[in-house]
Amino acid sequence: MKEKNSTYDAILSRRSIRRFQQKPINLDLLKKLVNAGRLAPSGANLQPLEYAIVTDKNLCSKVFETIGWAGYIKPKWTPAGDKRPVAYIVVLVRDSISRWFERDVGFASENIVLAAEAEGIGSCVLCKIDKDRIQEILQVPDDLKVDSVIALGYKAERSVAEDMEEDSVRYWRDNDGVLHVPKRKLEDILHINGF
Ligand SMILES: Cc1cc2nc3c(=O)[nH]c(=O)nc-3n(C[C@H](O)[C@H](O)[C@H](O)COP(=O)(O)O)c2cc1C
Repeated sequence: MKEKNSTYDAILSRRSIRRFQQKPINLDLLKKLVNAGRLAPSGANLQPLEYAIVTDKNLCSKVFETIGWAGYIKPKWTPAGDKRPVAYIVVLVRDSISRWFERDVGFASENIVLAAEAEGIGSCVLCKIDKDRIQEILQVPDDLKVDSVIALGYKAERSVAEDMEEDSVRYWRDNDGVLHVPKRKLEDILHINGF
């Protein structure tokens, strides 16, 4: 029998979501997502990451202004005022203590977005951001650096992963506003017992 809400289901169903309902996310739930990040693998277990949860409306709108959305979609496709993320988790790094911090960010971020997916919350990892500006907005101390932002909210758009048919990695939007995300086919990336 198929197990419900398995990790694999969340892996399959998670897509980057950039349009959100304006319903707030409970703070305990946001803390649960950070906890999922906290428990991720860490090179030499150095644990260089910290996290800032942003839910305050004024701060959210300041953070929003620093973000570059969906670079492949033209014309520019910034979420409208009533579709913006309702919360952010800002990933912060004490980079001097680990040469593997970027990998740690990857593992922790994936834990966060999968835990979000399992709770029915949409997310988008964002690196096209003005890190210095976010550092200022949140008054992050100098010994921590803003690495990336995870936008969060209950979903208000649909996005589907599809086998990449042509040689293009560009996601695209159809007339109904559904996002189509090409993924390289399993047979194109998998090698068993050599090449
Ligand atoms: C390291 C990284 C940086 C990203 N930065 C942005 C970003 O700045 N803006 C954005 O809209 N999406 C960003 N994304 C989301 C990617 O566009 C998205 O993961 C990719 O198109 C695949 O779609 P999927 O997440 O639905 O599988 C980022 C994803 C990753 C992993």
